[in-house]
Amino acid sequence: MKKTAQKFANIRTPFYYYDMEILNNTASMVRDLAQKYRIDVHYAAKANEDPRIVSLLSDTGFGIDCVSGDEVKLALSCGVPVNKIVFSGVGKSDEEIFNAGIAGIGSINVESVQELYIVNAIAANYGFVANVCVRINPNIDAHTFRYVTSGLNTNKFGVSESEFDEFVAMLRNCTNVRFRGIHFHIASQVIDMKKVTVELCKRANAAADWFESQGLKVEMINLGGGLGVNYENPYECKIPDFETWFKTIDENISRKGDRTIHVEPGRALVAQCGDLITKVLFVKDTEAKSFVVVDAGMNNLVRPAFYGAFHKVENLTAADRPSLPCNRIYDVVGPVCESSDTFAKNCQLPLSVRGDLLIIHSAGAYGQAMSMRYTLRPIAQVVYSDRIDEAEKETPIL
Ligand code: LLP
Repeated sequence: MKKTAQKFANIRTPFYYYDMEILNNTASMVRDLAQKYRIDVHYAAKANEDPRIVSLLSDTGFGIDCVSGDEVKLALSCGVPVNKIVFSGVGKSDEEIFNAGIAGIGSINVESVQELYIVNAIAANYGFVANVCVRINPNIDAHTFRYVTSGLNTNKFGVSESEFDEFVAMLRNCTNVRFRGIHFHIASQVIDMKKVTVELCKRANAAADWFESQGLKVEMINLGGGLGVNYENPYECKIPDFETWFKTIDENISRKGDRTIHVEPGRALVAQCGDLITKVLFVKDTEAKSFVVVDAGMNNLVRPAFYGAFHKVENLTAADRPSLPCNRIYDVVGPVCESSDTFAKNCQLPLSVRGDLLIIHSAGAYGQAMSMRYTLRPIAQVVYSDRIDEAEKETPIL
């Protein structure tokens, strides 16, 4: 940590720090495992849309999972082959459907019978054929936190089994769509991925057989993303357990008729390569609490405020001082005028002072991607480990 604090000295804070070595190692390991278990990986770009990250993952050979028209444009601009781009979303606009369809992307994952009708109508109007999969909502509880559950029948996503007949009836009237297969994404930050995957594969096999019994060939089964990461101890497990996930899929999915198997991990590929580095502005002791006020806010990393999500926080600069125990209890808070602008509550840190650099770990996924300019606060700069000299420096005022 000592080396890190010195390395970061004078860089304008707050900033996202991406460790390209961790990202590279993760990508190569996942590529090798994907080959071993014959699984096609599509990186869920929503986790981190940084163009360097998206390019690195697409250069590794992964396709891209998109959920907006601009993500499709990003994937195309990063040179991702069209057949490796998939596009989900419960509310695609006509323009998004048109752009994705005319580009000929691998699959528009259709989330309702009405959407299927509209995709076909747009394709017929402009004379192209759109590749589609049906996104199925299998009503499976993945036992993750409620905000990131998407495969329950109370969630807005996908087509439920009770709507299959209607979906197929519509499909039979659609001359400008090519049905390619089935898609699922049931949750995020899933810890017991093995159990959930066994159940999901069972449902996927049954659904694929059902569609084939209707005379519709299922070329691809896409099982979505969701593999969780270790936020509590990011040092212990820099690369999440892709092997168990892929092996479980391989053992449980039916590849009948040469079906290809696809997944869409986001968080598990990028969370651990990214940290948010922030500076202590003030240390404020009140009657009830000690606050460390930092220069990053919920606008830079909203997960704690939004979901009550945990991110490990450490003081990088304290490592330069004679060894101090982690014996202070602080709330680490940002500068935004909302009490939810809190990165950590009752956090054990060494005595912290103005100017110290803190590291907020595991911020590579859904960190910068979800940042905003609330109260016109700036977007944090991005610093890559292999281009640290290019980082913008601070102009000293005091
Ligand atoms: N595929 C689809 C269709 C998705 O909607 C998602 C994530 C993924 C794949 C990738 O899931 P992952 O492998 O990253 O779990 N903002 C929340 C997470 C929302 C996830 C939304 N969908 C968070 O910060 O925890």
